[in-house]
Amino acid sequence: MIKQTILTGLRANNDLHIGNYLGALLPLIDMAENQSDKYQINLFVPDLHSFTTPIDHTLLHDAVFENLRVFVAAGLPLDNDNVRIYRQSYVPAHSELAWILECFTGFGEMSRMTQFKDKLQSANNEQVSVGLFNYPVLMAADILLYGASYVPVGEDQRQHLEFSRDIAERLNNRFKGGLFTIPKSVQEQYEFFGKDQGLRIKDLADPTKKMSKSDDSGKGVIFMTDSPEVARKKVMSATTDSLALVAFDKANQPGVTNLLELLALLSGESLEAVITNYRGQTQYGPLKTAVADVIATFLEGFQTKLSQVDDDAIAHKLLLSESLMSEQANATLLRVQQAIGLRA
Ligand code: TYM
Repeated sequence: MIKQTILTGLRANNDLHIGNYLGALLPLIDMAENQSDKYQINLFVPDLHSFTTPIDHTLLHDAVFENLRVFVAAGLPLDNDNVRIYRQSYVPAHSELAWILECFTGFGEMSRMTQFKDKLQSANNEQVSVGLFNYPVLMAADILLYGASYVPVGEDQRQHLEFSRDIAERLNNRFKGGLFTIPKSVQEQYEFFGKDQGLRIKDLADPTKKMSKSDDSGKGVIFMTDSPEVARKKVMSATTDSLALVAFDKANQPGVTNLLELLALLSGESLEAVITNYRGQTQYGPLKTAVADVIATFLEGFQTKLSQVDDDAIAHKLLLSESLMSEQANATLLRVQQAIGLRA
């Protein structure tokens, strides 16, 4: 029986934060730990995606390896044959398939991507590259090359996931022969990962926006490399509101709601239980302290594991995985090349 694939990627253009961890890494690692007998688990670094916006290129190479170390410290089992780690640029088929898919993608379709529109607004024209514009196509190639069914991502990637399905269906209809496995619908993805919607952890200082690597001040972002003390301070000075009543209310109390969500996700308690525990409290201090504690404990454990990661084991697994992934990706690429008339 051919195994279905669960796949995700995390860029390496800045330190990873707990939004990345909770939104994408943790659901994939849970699957790797509990379901790898049934699924192939691919966790990769989309290094070609790292410079869609300007970065310091002298840091990129080390940052890619650091991401892999984070994956392992977060619990990815390297000694499992069904788990694969790889760097996107080491499997050239990603770029080749992306070019082909781009020729079947509408300019208008890409222009409607909200993440692009948001970045466009906050950048000047010099910073907006064509790569940023069409990166969802490369992302679709990342997914379709391996026939991935499930792709754990945060809410911000939802539209890109939908595009992956659209472009796969478009080519399947245009060229007969079931070229691509269609990734599951976004709703099915949420059900599979046990959620009712995609996760969007908010910035602690400005809870109206998502926690983001590219936030310049970093005041509202808990990086995986923050010391427990620094993280604690960020939580204790998180922006809340002046309503003086703990309630789960995304629209009117985004700061408090974010804290409740963080507490549930990191303590392992259900969101309902956490909400019930704090409902009606008129002070935000105890909730903040509970979140600060759970984050500090989490970071301490994670960072101890990070300091113990075996770099040689990563290097060994990478070599093995990248060769296997190239085989798998090249087989898909050849099928596409044949279908569109590039190969006999
Ligand atoms: P990236 O590198 O920006 O983010 C990595 C993952 O973290 C999730 N995420 C969040 N989740 C919850 N709350 C937040 N505040 C938050 N911030 C980020 C993102 O949704 C993402 O899942 N294009 C992708 C990388 C990528 C990819 C792929 C993912 C490239 N190819 C193929 C899946 C499959 C990106 O820029 O994610």
